[in-house]
Amino acid sequence: MSSNARHVPVMLQRCLDMLAPALTEPGAVVVDCTLGAGGHSEALLERFPEARLVALDRDPTALALAGERLARFGDRATLVRAVYHELPEVLERLGIPRVQGVLFDLGVSSMQLDEADRGFAYAQDAPLDMRMDQTTGISAAEVLNTYPPGELVRILRAYGEEKQAKRIVSAVVREREKEPFTNSARLVELIRDALPQAAKRTGGNPAKRTFQALRIEVNGELVSVERAIPAAVAALAVGGRIAVLSYQSLEDRIVKAVFAAGATSTAPAGLPVVPERYQPRLKLLTRGAELPTEEEVAENRRAAPARLRGAERIREDIL
Ligand SMILES: C[S@@+](CC[C@H](N)C(=O)[O-])C[C@H]1O[C@@H](n2cnc3c(N)ncnc32)[C@H](O)[C@@H]1O
Repeated sequence: MSSNARHVPVMLQRCLDMLAPALTEPGAVVVDCTLGAGGHSEALLERFPEARLVALDRDPTALALAGERLARFGDRATLVRAVYHELPEVLERLGIPRVQGVLFDLGVSSMQLDEADRGFAYAQDAPLDMRMDQTTGISAAEVLNTYPPGELVRILRAYGEEKQAKRIVSAVVREREKEPFTNSARLVELIRDALPQAAKRTGGNPAKRTFQALRIEVNGELVSVERAIPAAVAALAVGGRIAVLSYQSLEDRIVKAVFAAGATSTAPAGLPVVPERYQPRLKLLTRGAELPTEEEVAENRRAAPARLRGAERIREDIL
């Protein structure tokens, strides 16, 4: 099977339908902030023949592969290697003041998970790397081997929602003094041994939460999402639409908060008439978060945790 066939874009039809009303005019610009294998991008270019695509990814491998896949669209597609919170600078460099659509498909790609030697998957033994861009930053092994224990506990709790963080970190610190960590299997085994029986019975592989936490730390994921979502909303023209797919509650909480703030009036209480500058600048396109259908999850289990939220820009900022 080709890599394109294996990596089915999540909630694709729903994302396209959500962005559609904003992308029909000639010259509309849509930004895919998480290009990955290019599945969503390809579908955007096919469905909206008048639109131009700008697509970002921090992973050079993803850019190379998606570049081949999208080559047939010529200059309708501009691919840029960037971290998504750099969106304002990318648009400025391209001379694009405002955009009509933005899509985020957050997290790690199927491609990254499938490349065992990148160390994202706890199911296979591999070097503990986990960098989406291996040309920069520090690896998961370095985090594990060098961070002070208190910092590791904080990361496991905040980014992995791991209740047994202290227990796991005590074991890590004891073990790393004997020999630094290099590979995932040793960490998986250590977590298994460190956890009490009761904790092992809940929530799948006991290493899952620690791996998620390390990945988020290594890639500065939440910090990037916190900066990128408001930047994307700011880049939308009036009538422009944004759709965001999240795969874990920490990301989804950030998206929900940014959208809710944009959709709420900022007027001081008790004004008889709310002046324009206090009116909400976003309209929510989803009530709560939308989930994939059972059929989609049955066909593509990586869609299971997906949460989709959308919003439309309805007003300029008035200062
Ligand atoms: C879930 S995949 C996207 C899959 C894509 N929608 C498709 O259809 O093939 C997420 C992608 O976002 C990229 N990514 C994650 N965090 C990023 C960030 N902060 N800046 C830029 N790209 C990021 C990853 O490298 C990965 O390729």
